[in-house]
Amino acid sequence: MKVLIVGPGAREHAIARSLHLDPAVTELHAVPGNPGIGQIATLHAGDANDGAAVAALATDLGADLVVVGPEAPLVAGVADAVRDAGIPVFGPSAEAAMLEGSKAFAKEIMAAAKVPTAEPRVCTTRDHLDAALAEFGAPYVVKDDGLAAGKGVVVTDNRDEATAHGQAILDAGGTIVIEEFLDGPEVSLFCICDGATVIPLQPAQDFKRAYDGDAGLNTGGMGAYTPLPWAPIDLVEQVVNNVAQPTVDEMARRGTPFSGVLYCGLALTSKGLRVVEFNARFGDPETQSVLARLETPLGGVLLAAAEGHLHDIDPLVWSDDAFVTVVLASHGYPESARKGDPITGTDAAENVDGAHVLHAGTATDSEGQLVAAGGRVLSVVGRGTTLADARAAAYDALAKIDLPGSHHRSDIALKAAEGEANAREALA
Ligand code: AMP
Ligand code: GLY
Repeated sequence: MKVLIVGPGAREHAIARSLHLDPAVTELHAVPGNPGIGQIATLHAGDANDGAAVAALATDLGADLVVVGPEAPLVAGVADAVRDAGIPVFGPSAEAAMLEGSKAFAKEIMAAAKVPTAEPRVCTTRDHLDAALAEFGAPYVVKDDGLAAGKGVVVTDNRDEATAHGQAILDAGGTIVIEEFLDGPEVSLFCICDGATVIPLQPAQDFKRAYDGDAGLNTGGMGAYTPLPWAPIDLVEQVVNNVAQPTVDEMARRGTPFSGVLYCGLALTSKGLRVVEFNARFGDPETQSVLARLETPLGGVLLAAAEGHLHDIDPLVWSDDAFVTVVLASHGYPESARKGDPITGTDAAENVDGAHVLHAGTATDSEGQLVAAGGRVLSVVGRGTTLADARAAAYDALAKIDLPGSHHRSDIALKAAEGEANAREALA
């Protein structure tokens, strides 16, 4: 099977790595990819958001499957263009991707499908905004309705800050979604869908804030781990039955079937499970941990979703090991991202037992030196029999890498690893 991957980041590198390990995948291509993906796939220059160009490339290559990684090309209709060219594509149509592209649309679908989520107020004027903030009270949750790369949400006790964020969205011509604050830990569960059937992957937890202890601004994600030793035993079943399947059924009923990854961002609140957000794609960096844990070859699963026969595939097989991903970010991220700093030590990091390195914002300069080219630069993934061992592998590998001015969180999966150790002690 010949596969073309669309996208530039560490999530796409993780997908490429899993496909590279799948014996059924004979040729891997990526547009535009990155230097890490280039070690295992043929890279093609081009605009990942240009559906006609991606479809033409897939046709020229004779691709058997196209996998679209990020949200922007999905919302722009890249999957539609490829599907129209007669090539199986993993990723939803532009209409179905509105589950991520508009938070107000997602809320409407959840209401119709009776999916539990935070009660929303959609605001298009300053008066709506003031009324909604007064109605819900602190902590305030203020969201940009549209795509904002994980940075469109402000959660704050400060009314002025909440108002300022809402006003900035209005000033930019956007729509605001104000909603009820959800307490409790967050979980990401990715469900592979083909328009009708839903196959859940294993849950993971993402760390969205920039610094240790959840300090700093929201980012695209600074680290992730799986499994979640603290999660309820029936979590996956609850999410499929109460969230993913009703949503997929509602989308099918409306004539806009959802195929691809339905990313369920969930809060386990004191009142029960609630959806924080839907995304229409694999999450980054959770994918780096989740796909590393999947033992079933990935190509067949993605092709079955693209072709609409997920009901035929064998149950997925998972490793019992734990996987921890730590993101190395460039100087200034997330406010800005300094580019051009040299990256050294990735080979030494790869040599650490149980570790591998995935590229995101990297490039090679004219002298062939690997340099930073974005905010999130590398994902370092560690594997171990426990979360503590997986953390050790990831952080040992990260310590071998040098990127001037870079930063990373030192507490990814720390609490879960401590809880896991306490639980083992209690059983002993
Ligand atoms: P979103 O882009 O909707 O995922 O929001 C980004 C982050 O903001 C989430 O991962 C949460 O940490 C936080 N957040 C979003 N909505 C809520 C909410 N209703 N209550 C509490 N925190 C939220
Ligand atoms: N990990 C958060 C996201 O992919 O949106």
